[in-house]
Amino acid sequence: MKLTVNNVVHQIDIEPEMPLLWVLRDELGVTGPKYGCGLAQCGACTVHVDGVAVRSCSVPVGAVTSPVTTIEGIGRPDALHAVQKAWIEHQVAQCGYCQSGQMMTAAAFLATEPNPTDAQIDQAMSGNLCRCATYPRIRQAVKTAAANLRGA
Ligand code: FES
Ligand code: FES
Repeated sequence: MKLTVNNVVHQIDIEPEMPLLWVLRDELGVTGPKYGCGLAQCGACTVHVDGVAVRSCSVPVGAVTSPVTTIEGIGRPDALHAVQKAWIEHQVAQCGYCQSGQMMTAAAFLATEPNPTDAQIDQAMSGNLCRCATYPRIRQAVKTAAANLRGA
């Protein structure tokens, strides 16, 4: 089957039941998405499929017919995504394990809600768990990224 990841088309010979996360990490070496719970509960594995944030641990690769974008694909080192820039500015990460998923959720959220309230940010990010409890900095970084995306 064909799978487009970060604008690269891959031809993969794989069982369609295999979760997308396994294909990304183990077959394609794309290690930004992390394995946390494997049960769609923590958000560490979040990627975009056709721009929508999905839990890649719980999506069979055979069901993926649209392009996949991971944290490696939303920006480049010389042209970071606004969310990635804001995460650096606010030094959000502690251990970092959850943060690629956090940023992918934030990026998809801001694409649909450019001017969010604190409550909307908290709601949008509530499914992404952080055992280091970086939540206050996540909220600040999402606000900064939203302002930068609006050109404010
Ligand atoms: S590893 Fe996918 S939601 Fe936790
Ligand atoms: S930064 Fe450690 S789990 Fe979130």
